[in-house]
Amino acid sequence: MKNRLLIMTAILSALPALAADRVASPDGKISLDFSLTADGAPQYTVDYRGEELVKASALGFEMKDARGFDSGFTVESITRASSDTMWAPVWGENDSIRDNYNAMTVQLVNRRYGTHLNVEFRAYDDGIGLRYVFPKQKKKRLTVTDELTEFAMPGDITAWWIPGDYDTQEYEYIRSSLSGIRRHADDAHMGNVSSSMFSPTGVQTSLMLKANDSTYLNIHEAALVDFPVMHLNLDDTDFVFRSWLTPGRDGDKAHIKLPFSTPWRVIMIGDRATDILASNLVLNLNEPTKYTDTSWIKPVKYIGVWWEMIAGGKQWSYTDAENFDLATFDYSKAKPHGRHSANTDNVKRYIDFAAANGFDQVLVEGWNVGWEDWLGKEKDYVFDFVTPYPDFDLKGLNDYARSKGVRLMMHHESSGSIPNYERWMDRAYDLMDRYGYNAVKSGYVGNILPKGENHYSQNSVNHYLRAVQKAADHHIMVNAHEAARPTGLSRTYPNLIGNESAMGTEYQNMSPGHVTILPFTRLKGGPMDFTPGIFEADLSKYNPGNHEHKRATVANQLALYVTMYSPLQMAADLPEHYEAKADAFQFIKDVPVDWKRSIYLDAEPGEYLVVAREDKHSDDWYVGGVTNADARNYDLRLDFLEPGATYRARLYMDGPTAHYDRNQDKYIITEFDVTSADTLPIHMAPGGGFALSLDKL
Ligand code: NOJ
Ligand code: CA
Repeated sequence: MKNRLLIMTAILSALPALAADRVASPDGKISLDFSLTADGAPQYTVDYRGEELVKASALGFEMKDARGFDSGFTVESITRASSDTMWAPVWGENDSIRDNYNAMTVQLVNRRYGTHLNVEFRAYDDGIGLRYVFPKQKKKRLTVTDELTEFAMPGDITAWWIPGDYDTQEYEYIRSSLSGIRRHADDAHMGNVSSSMFSPTGVQTSLMLKANDSTYLNIHEAALVDFPVMHLNLDDTDFVFRSWLTPGRDGDKAHIKLPFSTPWRVIMIGDRATDILASNLVLNLNEPTKYTDTSWIKPVKYIGVWWEMIAGGKQWSYTDAENFDLATFDYSKAKPHGRHSANTDNVKRYIDFAAANGFDQVLVEGWNVGWEDWLGKEKDYVFDFVTPYPDFDLKGLNDYARSKGVRLMMHHESSGSIPNYERWMDRAYDLMDRYGYNAVKSGYVGNILPKGENHYSQNSVNHYLRAVQKAADHHIMVNAHEAARPTGLSRTYPNLIGNESAMGTEYQNMSPGHVTILPFTRLKGGPMDFTPGIFEADLSKYNPGNHEHKRATVANQLALYVTMYSPLQMAADLPEHYEAKADAFQFIKDVPVDWKRSIYLDAEPGEYLVVAREDKHSDDWYVGGVTNADARNYDLRLDFLEPGATYRARLYMDGPTAHYDRNQDKYIITEFDVTSADTLPIHMAPGGGFALSLDKL
């Protein structure tokens, strides 16, 4: 057991009922004050370095079937506790994490309606967590129509945001002042999945904010379990964000069974942008893992039969059948269209490439029947997740992969039909057991069924977790696309090794700044299957029909393996494109997917980001840096290295003419020895970056 208990103090003392009270972070820089208004409505403020950062903000709920959860409260008691422990994640950016906070729980009672509500606050050096606990009381169940939690900002500050949407996070981020959100609501460049925006001032979390040059903050949630996704709606007259829960198909926000604890509402706070990147607050607010044996959970580096369909014009489907109905379609009589990628010979080619280059797995999409009409799912039976296409040798390919030390990665596209997926799930996981799959990429493209349900509603959220828990019973790791964005649940359920839930490489023409914002937003809840590593930016070279273009240099694509932390990393491009640039590909082969320690050296959201990470299983370091559309020179000080030791450095850098729209492959690779006393002059091209490996000699 690596978990070390440093100090664990719990001073539980019932204080006399007070109308206001304070809890401060262990370093004293952050403090939260709780109080009741004259009407007994609960509220809080947050001070940072002695100044008010979060102004008076409401707390509480409106219920459909009960009154007395918004005001009329008196404080029954206040209890306090402190904790300072270390814990070791199964995989992560760091091999041990300090969890150090002061807590204050305020027990509220509304005597008129006989209702009870506790608010639990935790103050950490890197921010605040608060959640509601509904203790056992007369009412056994409640229907939430509104959560009243507010986050009142100190003024018209800067935000990096995507629009509030019940179904997707596949947007590019917009930077604006808070007063600019309404104006820019329609500028959001979004993806191709279903979407439902709820307000011109609605935004999603994790929401990155900057109050001034030395105050960064980020609002998110932690441990989203049995509750809908929290969005925020801005009142742009006074810059107050209000919690906006995703409704279910009955229009209600949540149905809860008492006793019940809500997810944590989180405000990360720091002096520097890098403090937000380094914050472990979201993980710390999640429960320790419930699994006693985690030895079967392993980080994964993989390739896949994927990019050739996304960008190369190949197909998931096997035939061009029209009026397709999976229940009656006879594949043995069907004429293949000849563009089906998941065929045995092609998959073998990928397995050979994975084996030759040290990859753990090969994802194969389009292996199973049903893709002919995968979005025509008003009829419920879209896929069965167990029947391979006639040209995909399920057993033979798994045997072949295993003989070469590689595994296939399963693919379950539910196309949003949650009832159909749940119906097949046991059989689907049994099949995986039978053939030796231990990881599944799942997906929820399109409208969620049952009809009227949203991607981010309570029922859907419950499904995503159920799928992860059931997978754990089979020792299967899950990478879910289009599910609700993560909220640190991978601490508790570490077989959740990835999610998409943001705009990733499948969007080929994202603006170069996107990857400098994701680590501040989407990644705060957990790793992303971003699928980096595109070496051939001009897609028309192999697919004349595709005039899209990867707007990133090769050096930038390499850097992403370090800057976009994930225990699951794909090399997304085609094997032949890696063979053509074997020198740059070396970095993808070398880079680890699990770390001892990570140090965010320098960053500004939307601009650039530089991070150094030490391999979990050696003394080697890796550094990655990315920039937006602006070129940047950067002096990289190596003072994080062990003093006195010598390291063999291999630097992959943009050449002087490199650019995200042309000359993407003008990179320069150099090798030399360094020590901790050295500083390396780095050049990052527009849309570029650098990657550096440092092998200790
Ligand atoms: C969307 C996913 O993000 C993508 O990776 C996948 O290939 C398609 N859905 C098909 O499942
Ligand atoms: Ca997607």
